[in-house]
Amino acid sequence: NMVYDIKGLESLRQTVKDILGARDVFIVPGDADTNPYVLKELGNVASKVILPLLQNVRIIAVTGGQTVKEVVDNFPVCSFKDILVVPARGGIGQEVEKQANTLAANLAKKLGGRYKLLHLPDTMDEEIYNLIAKKEEVQDVLNDINNADMLIFGIGNAIEMAKRRKFSQEMINKLCQVGAIGEIFGYYFDREGNIVYSTTTVGIKLEKIKNIKYMIGVAGGAHKAEAVLSLNGIKHSSIFVIDEGIARRIVDIK
Ligand code: G3H
Repeated sequence: NMVYDIKGLESLRQTVKDILGARDVFIVPGDADTNPYVLKELGNVASKVILPLLQNVRIIAVTGGQTVKEVVDNFPVCSFKDILVVPARGGIGQEVEKQANTLAANLAKKLGGRYKLLHLPDTMDEEIYNLIAKKEEVQDVLNDINNADMLIFGIGNAIEMAKRRKFSQEMINKLCQVGAIGEIFGYYFDREGNIVYSTTTVGIKLEKIKNIKYMIGVAGGAHKAEAVLSLNGIKHSSIFVIDEGIARRIVDIK
């Protein structure tokens, strides 16, 4: 099922797959840190990896971010009218073009399917959350999110994500102290893969992830290598579409 093969990258792919213990790995040539076009090609390759899996999928959850946006933008127009796309979490913390809600709606359009949105901020007080979560329409979407059989997620560098999400300097210092390295949908991981911080009150829960049939992690740029390596709990069940920059850095680190 080799979707993308270029001489020299096949052995790298095997090495990285073994290091990560991942379900599968696909590598796009180049490094998104130095060449933004690589991220577009990554989106294109990821869509080719995802497409044949969709026969077995009813609900897709997507996170926000530029990388997932590239997957959606490069997705071919097709006809899966029974598929429902939902945001993995609230996702107000990003520019509207990159929010999980926007990406869910846009992917649904490409698929010819349906979407539901979650109009809630990423973080909020527990009390407020409990009130809002009781509402029927929110319950309905949360229920779909927790029954997703595919999750397409971006992988972030923890400190970079904290800055992008406008965390206070105090909070960023705290994240550094606890050794936060990687981030996926509001969960922050240290080098050993322990969750050291989490902002995910509204949306997909890490403990639900073992029920998800297809986990598709997308990331480009060598600076995200350690973030990918930190995802201990989910590496084994995930299919990664990464670039050569991350792949080579992963080999260098190990
Ligand atoms: O939520 C954001 C992802 O974790 C990474 O975002 O694809 O924009 O780098 P990105």
